[in-house]
Amino acid sequence: MSPMFFALVAGAFSLLCFYLYQKHNYWKKNGIPTVKGCVPLLGHILPMIMKRMNFSEFIRLCYEEHKDHSMIGIYKGTRPVLIVRDPNLVKTVLQSNFSNFHENGIKIVPEADPLLSKNPFFCYGETWLTGRKRLTYAFSNVRLKILFAAVSGVCKKFEDFLNRRLKTSNKYEVDMKTLFLRFTSEVVANAGLGIEGHCFEDDAGANAFHKLAGNTFAESLGTIIAFHYPSINHLLKLSFLPKSIDGFFRKVVSENLKMRRNASTPRNDFLQLMIDMEKTGEVIDEETVSAHAVSFYLDGTETSSVTLNFIGHNLAAHPEIQEKLRKEVRSTIEKHGGLTFEALKDMTYMNQVISESQRLHPGLGFLHKTCTEEFVLQESDGLTYRIKPGTEVVISVFGLHGDPKYWVNPDVFDPERFNDERKQTIEKMTFLPFGEGPRICVGMRMALLQMKACLATLMNSYKLELSPRTQVPLKMSPNYFLSEPIGGNWVYISKL
Ligand code: HEM
Repeated sequence: MSPMFFALVAGAFSLLCFYLYQKHNYWKKNGIPTVKGCVPLLGHILPMIMKRMNFSEFIRLCYEEHKDHSMIGIYKGTRPVLIVRDPNLVKTVLQSNFSNFHENGIKIVPEADPLLSKNPFFCYGETWLTGRKRLTYAFSNVRLKILFAAVSGVCKKFEDFLNRRLKTSNKYEVDMKTLFLRFTSEVVANAGLGIEGHCFEDDAGANAFHKLAGNTFAESLGTIIAFHYPSINHLLKLSFLPKSIDGFFRKVVSENLKMRRNASTPRNDFLQLMIDMEKTGEVIDEETVSAHAVSFYLDGTETSSVTLNFIGHNLAAHPEIQEKLRKEVRSTIEKHGGLTFEALKDMTYMNQVISESQRLHPGLGFLHKTCTEEFVLQESDGLTYRIKPGTEVVISVFGLHGDPKYWVNPDVFDPERFNDERKQTIEKMTFLPFGEGPRICVGMRMALLQMKACLATLMNSYKLELSPRTQVPLKMSPNYFLSEPIGGNWVYISKL
């Protein structure tokens, strides 16, 4: 090897070091405190690549370690990402200056994910507005009342399933995530697509709809690259949506459309509503209808089953709260003569239990936005930052929900925080299980409807007890984008 070669290598290496130093000095130059642990080239994403924690947990730690700062900086690779900690700044980003931050932070490549690219979560401008309007109508009170008929049918199947399990033994030990995934998947199949999901059938095998899910939100190397390195993803064109799910929904929608064109009585499910909205003369855009079906499935099943999973855990761990909830469920069912749509609305203590569980264990631990128009972020701690278009902004839902500055004894499960009186004292933008502002979860009412129906069925006739298989205190899995405890959330279910 010639000295010239070594000189070239040394020169290139020095240039790279200088480049990285410049890149990773960005926050310091802008007067924003930087989270420790930045690694050349990788920035702060090493713990996620090494599977030591998921992104939610990492952002929570950043939030907790910088108690005195309103904003802090991290790097995804060499790209600067801002974490806003202060509720005033959270409000600026999510609500008051929404037009400067109206894009979500996660980007997909439309050619790689054609169905996902029509999901409002990934859309902007007019496309987003139109998609959002449709879903707002689909989950309006009138429409939810119609969908409730299907949800009610799922409750009956759920009960039959539990009774079968409890025929031979007086206690059924189960990991709640898998149990609730059966419930929410059957809701999507019945209320969403108008098909049989077979989720509660013991011999359905691969036909069971819930098996399709199998951790759609698992953190694979592909999704980690797609999430943290959008420019690499643009080149590699990695898809978030597994091909099996893409193919499944196209097939279901195609078969359904054929059937429905020849049917004499119209259906009352979500798919029918989307078909009706997409009708232009006799032409129906099958791709768009498939995209709506995927949205309902993807946005509705795992988020709700993960949330139910933690509610179930908290009820099993607090028998007195479980009993209080059971009293409300039973008296309300009696008052309404059954588990009706109106009865669910009347179950207000259940709302408190759900909110408190979502505070302690939010399904999605962070919100992720992109700046679309330059803006000056300023806070009373003296930090000021002129944010440029393209810069990502992250909000730690986990951090805000567990901050003793906003919640007394934040680690304690106490549904009374959300009673009518105390609810008024909760500081704005510190409770964000469904997000906030114009992009707040559009399926929130559907989610609450199915979760309340599921819990009412459970509380009315069954008791939950913690199984020793659950590793308490719960520790979150590094392999999953949403929140999921390591080792599962095991309970004993018995008949009352
Ligand atoms: C407990 C269950 C659920 C939770 C915890 C949840 C949570 C969230 C969160 C945190 C966001 C992001 C908000 C933001 O960016 O500010 C979101 C957005 C969204 N959710 Fe949900 N969600 C749930 C159920 C559902 C259901 C059942 C549907 C529909 C079937 C749905 C459809 C959507 C859609 C379409 C968006 C994107 C909205 C937009 O960008 O305009 N979600 N959800």
